[in-house]
Amino acid sequence: MGNFLPFSRLMVMIAFLAVSISFQSANSDPQITLVNEGCNLYPPDNSTAFYINFNATFADLRNQLLQENNKLFATAQINRPSNPVFVLFHCRDYLSTADCITCFNTAVSRMQKCSPGAGGRVIYDGCFLRLEGQIFYDQAVVPGNGQVCGNQTASQPTIFRTQTEAFLQDLKLATPRINGLFAASKRQLSNGGDAVYAVAQCAKSVNRSSCQDCLRVAYGNIDICLPNTDGRAYDTGCFLRYSTTAFFADNQTININPYLGAIGGSSNKTKAIILGAVGGVSLLLAILALLLWYQLYKKPQKAEKGNIFGTTELRGPVTYDYKVLKSATKDFSEENKQGEGGFSEVYKGTMRNGKVVAVKKLNITSGRAKTEFVSEVKLISNVHHRNLVRLLGYANKGTALLLVYEYMANGSLNSFLYGEKRGYLDWKKRFNIIIGIAKGLAYLHEQYHACIIHRDIKSSNILLDRDFHPKIADFGLAKLLPGDQSHLSTRFAGTLGYTAPEYAVHGHLSEKVDTYGFGIVILEIISGSRSNNTAVGVGPVSEFLLGKARKLHETNTHLQLVDETLDPNEYNVAEVKKVMELALICTQSQPSERPAMSEVVTMLSHDQPIKELCHSSNSNTSSDTRLLTDEEDTH
Ligand SMILES: *[C@@H]1O[C@H](CO)[C@@H](O)[C@H](O)[C@H]1NC(C)=O
Ligand SMILES: *[C@@H]1O[C@H](CO)[C@@H](O)[C@H](O)[C@H]1NC(C)=O
Ligand SMILES: *[C@@H]1O[C@H](CO)[C@@H](O)[C@H](O)[C@H]1NC(C)=O
Ligand SMILES: *[C@@H]1O[C@H](CO)[C@@H](O)[C@H](O)[C@H]1NC(C)=O
Ligand SMILES: *[C@@H]1O[C@H](CO)[C@@H](O)[C@H](O)[C@H]1NC(C)=O
Repeated sequence: MGNFLPFSRLMVMIAFLAVSISFQSANSDPQITLVNEGCNLYPPDNSTAFYINFNATFADLRNQLLQENNKLFATAQINRPSNPVFVLFHCRDYLSTADCITCFNTAVSRMQKCSPGAGGRVIYDGCFLRLEGQIFYDQAVVPGNGQVCGNQTASQPTIFRTQTEAFLQDLKLATPRINGLFAASKRQLSNGGDAVYAVAQCAKSVNRSSCQDCLRVAYGNIDICLPNTDGRAYDTGCFLRYSTTAFFADNQTININPYLGAIGGSSNKTKAIILGAVGGVSLLLAILALLLWYQLYKKPQKAEKGNIFGTTELRGPVTYDYKVLKSATKDFSEENKQGEGGFSEVYKGTMRNGKVVAVKKLNITSGRAKTEFVSEVKLISNVHHRNLVRLLGYANKGTALLLVYEYMANGSLNSFLYGEKRGYLDWKKRFNIIIGIAKGLAYLHEQYHACIIHRDIKSSNILLDRDFHPKIADFGLAKLLPGDQSHLSTRFAGTLGYTAPEYAVHGHLSEKVDTYGFGIVILEIISGSRSNNTAVGVGPVSEFLLGKARKLHETNTHLQLVDETLDPNEYNVAEVKKVMELALICTQSQPSERPAMSEVVTMLSHDQPIKELCHSSNSNTSSDTRLLTDEEDTH
């Protein structure tokens, strides 16, 4: 449950508000009330190429919808090895072509904002759009399905519930048997009052049995809405909706009775089936008991839930069995220990399916902290970005709090800069790491629906995967700020040497605290030395590295800062200088003078001088910036 971004909760509310409006003029209405949306986890590597493909597939879809008469379903793809794009769109069959195109245009522009450069799913009352980097057309039931209910209870709840349930069951049964996998129907309830309008639809690319499965799940979801007068259930392969208000014209309905035949949808035969089923249930129970016994006998442990890798679907946090993690880490053995921090230890764990994970064990004792922690974990588990370490799930047992993260083969950045693996990173890798960190932070600050300030950006919190792509780790200290709240906080959680002065001294917290930490990390990456390696005296300890960089900048002798292990022949002097200037701008003492991370991404991705961009801080910058940063403000 709750597997679309939590953002969807807001959408549900918006949907409520718009319900009555959209129902009014059922006949010529594109029905662009948003039901739900989910954005993809990982934007593709080359977003330019992706966007070209993205636009091309949409142009293709639009043409199909316009040119082929009454076409309400279409797919399009660019099936190249790199940046492939697959897209599927369909309208509810009762929409006119004009309304369908309107719904399409709305969905496309929503998708462009959904997760810039990556696609996802958007579901409206009137249409459905999904875009992925891999083929999905035959998928029907996927995590993230759910329902949106109206808020008015029917006047005769019991009768309404029973009869609407029967109606929806019939629709669920009939629709997979109807060519086109769509049915709109109206039924007068026997209480003399309400008529109920309902629609069931499967994507035309799924087969009948998947359609059946999908509607079964959808029925289970929508049933929660009864006895409210409106409800919708959504999934990837199907859609189910009912309302006491007409949302399609009477002449769009079909008679579903012929499709209920053989197996029998209504009363008498249903009873026979139920009787039969009761007999079957006993047999089933016996089999289940047998299976259970077998499981217990074979292995006392529960298998870990959920396939944690290899899915592009959005899902909420997975809860792990404590015992599973205990055995995966060999009882948190010293040999599996990867590191430890102030109040946590990290272990390498190998799950029974062979997947390697990182298990972070937190030493939090207060009950309140624990409650806070769990709710935060739930939010953070929905944060997905290529440059952020992914939280796979957690376990919460007694005093133990365990976080399960994807495992990063190359460990943390600091060991490559001034630790045991010093000298391994060439300039190209270092530059890519800088860009990656910037993108990850820009996502946390501006593209996720809640602004997340990391507060503790430092080289040891940047992990490297097998290919040296950087991923920002440790959201243990990140606090989620509601969009409208002041960014002030007195809680101090940073690491000396990386901490912005206004935060270290006054506790003033803003995204610019992370910009500062990022600037220090850049200096460490360039110099291969620790920011706080002269931990003596008073004042911010970063003065050493930062102060040195400032002086070198003033005398235009930037290259003296560069790590001596870097081969002077393989780095671009102008690039190094530019990055160093960027670091200095990011570490200015006035937070307002530091750029937003999305601006940093722009500066790094383009051949523009740093200074010019920095002062146009209210970014009315290029369209490329907009792709990276423009997230519709939904708060
Ligand atoms: C139900 O939704 C309507 C808008 O559709 C809203 O005005 C009303 O306050 C809601 N009622 C309740 C009880 O939430
Ligand atoms: C990104 O895509 C563009 C346009 O297709 C191409 O010119 C460029 O070489 C690609 N860059 C990378 C790094 O793949
Ligand atoms: C894709 O389309 C959008 C909106 O029509 C446009 O702003 C953008 O420049 C296009 N991108 C490419 C790469 O063609
Ligand atoms: C229907 O499609 C699903 C998903 O592709 C597939 O697993 C299943 O075998 C198909 N069933 C039939 C009867 O073709
Ligand atoms: C259905 O009824 C509407 C008016 O309510 C009319 O405009 C439309 O042509 C009708 N459609 C069909 C297929 O009869």
